[in-house]
Amino acid sequence: MTTTLITGANKGLGFETARRLIAAGHTVYIGARDAERGRRAAEQLGARLVQLDVTDDASVQAAAKTVEADGGLDVLVNNAGIEARREDNSVPGAADVTADDMRTAFETNVFGVIRVTHAFLPLLRRSATPVVVNVSSGLGSVTNVCDPATPAYHYPGVAYPASKATVNMITVQFAKAFPAMRINAVEPGFTATDLNGRTGTQTVEEGAEIIVRMAQTGPDGPTGGYFDAEGPLPW
Ligand SMILES: NC(=O)c1ccc[n+]([C@@H]2O[C@H](COP(=O)([O-])OP(=O)(O)OC[C@H]3O[C@@H](n4cnc5c(N)ncnc54)[C@H](OP(=O)(O)O)[C@@H]3O)[C@@H](O)[C@H]2O)c1
Repeated sequence: MTTTLITGANKGLGFETARRLIAAGHTVYIGARDAERGRRAAEQLGARLVQLDVTDDASVQAAAKTVEADGGLDVLVNNAGIEARREDNSVPGAADVTADDMRTAFETNVFGVIRVTHAFLPLLRRSATPVVVNVSSGLGSVTNVCDPATPAYHYPGVAYPASKATVNMITVQFAKAFPAMRINAVEPGFTATDLNGRTGTQTVEEGAEIIVRMAQTGPDGPTGGYFDAEGPLPW
């Protein structure tokens, strides 16, 4: 029996990933920062629920205790993420971006990944087949962002791509440190969710594909890589 935790799974790609992994036989905990939104989603999915705000140490520690008491964890999907738009819905570019803009994005997308991974690491180390999936973005690829032929080149924001490039580096360093684990970064592709005001061109079913696949990777599968549904991506 594989036990899986997906952060930020009350909606969007996390919710769809939970649905698919439950169908594949995983026992799934969904993490939700809002207990009521989480309860509704867990009920719909037939998932377990942990209240978990990736920016909050106490909630992450409490969630780890709950999952540990229930028997441990095999798969961690670090999915919770934000685009960190300003109140006027703008994405500040290089001329405007402030340290606060960067801090907002990093608090959830980077420090959140570290906070959750650190808290669940002892449980993962006790698993026979530990897997971590870090939900990155194509915007985290320095190669793509520098290539005028890719859509990523035209994204004006600084904070979100920088946060996802950092997630990629975290993925590589953790994969090297824990060779017994399969630890990979994935790019779901531009998917219609609340993150982008539903402007994404893919469905959540399409977007969740690579997350679901990497969550199910076996001990002989890749580690320290960066993938979309088509295969490896350039860093
Ligand atoms: N959609 C895309 O095109 C796309 C492309 C590449 C990568 N991604 C990545 O995919 C992941 C999922 O995004 P999505 O598109 O599914 O967006 P979404 O529908 O907005 O879902 C984001 C989820 O993260 C949760 N979340 C945000 N801050 C949190 C926090 N501090 N603690 C716990 N949960 C938190 C949200 O909870 P609330 O409901 O409480 O806000 C929500 O459940 C993100 O990491 C995103 O960067 C998305």
